Formats: sequence, C-alpha cells, structure tokens
Amino acid sequence: MAVMVEWWGGRDLRSMLPRVFFEHFCSTSLVAEHDDEPVGFLVGFVCPDHPGEAYVHFAGVHPAWRRAGLGAELYGRFFALAADHGCTVVRAVTAPVNKGSVAFHRRLGFRLLPGADEVDGLPVSVDPGPYGEHLVHFERRLDGEGGGG
Ligand SMILES: CC(C)(COP(=O)(O)OP(=O)(O)OC[C@H]1O[C@@H](n2cnc3c(N)ncnc32)[C@H](O)[C@@H]1OP(=O)(O)O)[C@@H](O)C(=O)NCCC(=O)NCCS
Repeated sequence: MAVMVEWWGGRDLRSMLPRVFFEHFCSTSLVAEHDDEPVGFLVGFVCPDHPGEAYVHFAGVHPAWRRAGLGAELYGRFFALAADHGCTVVRAVTAPVNKGSVAFHRRLGFRLLPGADEVDGLPVSVDPGPYGEHLVHFERRLDGEGGGG
C-alpha cells in the first residue's frame, strides 16, 4: 500500500488490492526485496472457476529498478508456479493509458484479446472500475499453443 501510488505514477489503485489478497493468495503471490525493502511484487492466483487458468491481478516494480528484468523474473516465476498447478493459460488486464504495461505484457508473450471497442488502437472492453473506463485483456499460453503477440 505504501508504494503503490508512487509506483503507478500517481494513479491510486490501492482499493483494487484489499487485504483479502494477502490473506488468501499468498502462496501464488511474490515479493522481491532489496535490503529488506520491497522492490517488486506480483499478486496472482489460480482461478477457482476457470480450470487451467491463472490470473495476475497486480504486478509492480520500484521505478529505480525498472527495465532490468525484475518484472519478467516475477512473471516467469508466476508462470512456473501456475504450470505447477496445472494451468495452461495466464490472464491479466491493464488500462490502455498504461502503455508501459501493454508493451511489457506484449514483450512477455501475452496476446491482446479482441475487445468490443478500441482506444489508441488497442482492443478494449468497457469496465467501470477504478482502473479507468476501459481495459485491455491479455492472455499468455503456457503450453506453446496459440503463440504470443
Ligand atoms: C510494467 C512493469 C512491472 C515492468 O517491470 P520491469 O521490471 O521494468 O520489466 P522488465 O525489465 O522485466 O522488462 C521485460 C521486458 O519488457 C520490456 N518493457 C518493460 N517496461 C517497458 C516499457 N515501459 N516500455 C516498453 N517496453 C517495456 C522490457 O524492455 C523488457 O524487454 P527486453 O527483454 O527486450 O529487454 C513496471 O514498469 C511497473 O511496475 N510499472 C508500473 C506498474 C504497472 O503498470 N504494472 C502492470 C499493470 S498491473
């Protein structure tokens, strides 16, 4: 909570990450620390209602630690963890305004799912939540099917 607003460039998304995530999804979430300070985290879970799917709810890296592979490392560990749970697909969403996140997910092999609408050339679906009015939906297969993109 202490780092989120700064790490998200002033966007306050803290209400999207209530305590329940840290009580019920610890074993599928990750924190990277340096000198006992958090420098990165990923909160994810294996979907109880969608067999074979895992979901990254939030992931962030300290601004001073970016573009050094830490985000990719956190995702890579989550992919392995999800595969260990029998998952073949990882999903995530981001706001179209978050161009860095879109580029990052693409780089990691996520494909953008078709949306009902388009913002800045990105396929989006309407979501009235605090991320913004639209969301880009990503999918990354872990079984080599369907390719990246
Ligand atoms: C998105 C985020 C987690 C990426 O973390 P990171 O540690 O900087 O990412 P990495 O260094 O592991 O980058 C992995 C790849 O993505 C690319 N990438 C990362 N950020 C990028 C950006 N802003 N623009 C373009 N490409 C980017 C890297 O160049 C790298 O590609 P490479 O393997 O060719 O070098 C980080 O920028 C962040 O915390 N952003 C704010 C929070 C956020 O938006 N979270 C995601 C939505 S929940």
